[in-house]
Amino acid sequence: MPATPSFMKLKVDHKTVLCRDLNTYRALRDFLLNSGYSPVYETERVGEEKTAMATFACLSSLTGERLAVVLGMSAPNEVSHAQAPFAYGFAGKPQKDAQTYMQHLALRTNDVEKLKSHLESKGAAFLTPIYKDKDSFGPLLQSFTRELFDDEWFFIEFVQRDYDADTVGAGGTQFVQNTVKSLYVSKQEEFREWEKTGKKRKFLDGVPAKDRTKLLQEIFANTEPKGYVQTVAPIARNVSLG
Ligand SMILES: [Fe+2]
Repeated sequence: MPATPSFMKLKVDHKTVLCRDLNTYRALRDFLLNSGYSPVYETERVGEEKTAMATFACLSSLTGERLAVVLGMSAPNEVSHAQAPFAYGFAGKPQKDAQTYMQHLALRTNDVEKLKSHLESKGAAFLTPIYKDKDSFGPLLQSFTRELFDDEWFFIEFVQRDYDADTVGAGGTQFVQNTVKSLYVSKQEEFREWEKTGKKRKFLDGVPAKDRTKLLQEIFANTEPKGYVQTVAPIARNVSLG
């Protein structure tokens, strides 16, 4: 086995959960603030003219865990992509009882450019370029993959932070408006395409079928803390990491 390159040594940076409605959004926000999480980002509306999302992000200074909570806001004649799991279901069926959906997992690398090139050389497809932005912790680089599965809405974000992201505390609430908006617009365009055609261009479509599981394992098996990714429901339903 060749040694794992350092850009493939990944750490969980944050995860983002979608909410069905305002009650769920408020309840989660309330629960997290009552559980030792500090707010690091909050915005009432980012998106397009018709559809948008509200976002609340927070950090547990005790465990270092970062969570973002998102409420997709649809218009009468257009569904927000952030409402897709509730409007169209997931795991192969309608999900009328689901109140939340794990939309993406962000994994931290020390070199997002190398990581992206490496995965693209194997046929993997990203939805976005590498965005350069700043959040309340400091400067960051981010790139978002295409969705992983046909009957899920899950994707991965790769992020690079050029400082020790594990020791930094909550730096107050700030805005990373540009990237959040760019991502929203890209996701909404991808989603409209899916609604029109019923077809999705997926992260691993360009990877030979026999190598797909291996590539996912290469990403997830190297991720710290060990075992964390198996707790993220769309992955747990679709990828065996054993
Ligand atoms: Fe994210």
